[in-house]
Amino acid sequence: MAFGLALQQGGKIRNLKGKFIVFEGLDATGKSTQVKRLSELLQREGLTVVTTREPGGTPLGEAIRRILLDNKNHALSSLSELLLFVASRHQLTKEVIRPALEAEKTVVSSRYMMSSLAYQGYGRGIDLDLIQQLNAAATTGLRPDFLFLIDVTPAVAINRMTTFGKKGGRRDRIEAEDIAFYERVQKGYLEAACEETGVYIIDGELTEEKIAEQVAVRLGFC
Ligand code: TYD
Repeated sequence: MAFGLALQQGGKIRNLKGKFIVFEGLDATGKSTQVKRLSELLQREGLTVVTTREPGGTPLGEAIRRILLDNKNHALSSLSELLLFVASRHQLTKEVIRPALEAEKTVVSSRYMMSSLAYQGYGRGIDLDLIQQLNAAATTGLRPDFLFLIDVTPAVAINRMTTFGKKGGRRDRIEAEDIAFYERVQKGYLEAACEETGVYIIDGELTEEKIAEQVAVRLGFC
């Protein structure tokens, strides 16, 4: 089911130079595929594109990613987990995203600050105001120009993780959470999306091509 539609109506947006585009959604929703497809489309249009992902995207961020996803790290508290995601986000914003946008490049990222609201806020139960404050500090106020939330049900996401997961069905520390966790995360995404402008929710059960088409149309490619 498509939840619908651009919160902002309006004319075509052709100038994507210096714009920041983010994909969000549960695990196994095809975000990295869409990042790749969109960056190829934008490059064909003559734009210089930088792709990123969270957690990671910088040497420090990739080291933090390994800690966060390692199944052996049972001792990691929810607050430490949040702080690590935020640290990775700060490095990425400072080292990669801001400089690229300042150089008029287009940045396309898999995940950004809405992931922390959904996973650590709704999923783990950490205070949403605290997350907003940490996000604001980590990003120095940088917000996406366009945010695509690829929505699938938790059952579909878990089924994809176990059946087609990149790691041959092995689930990392966060993916190992149960369906109730993913239900809270999905609810968090949908609620957070309602509070933001410029968020476009896409039905993640559509084909890869259809999703790419909706993204392209929203960005003004017809
Ligand atoms: P991701 O790279 O999208 O997963 P994968 O490459 O394994 O498909 O994200 C890694 C995990 O981190 C994912 O389970 C979501 C989680 N996550 C959070 O819990 N909070 C955050 O702020 C971010 C950025 C990711």
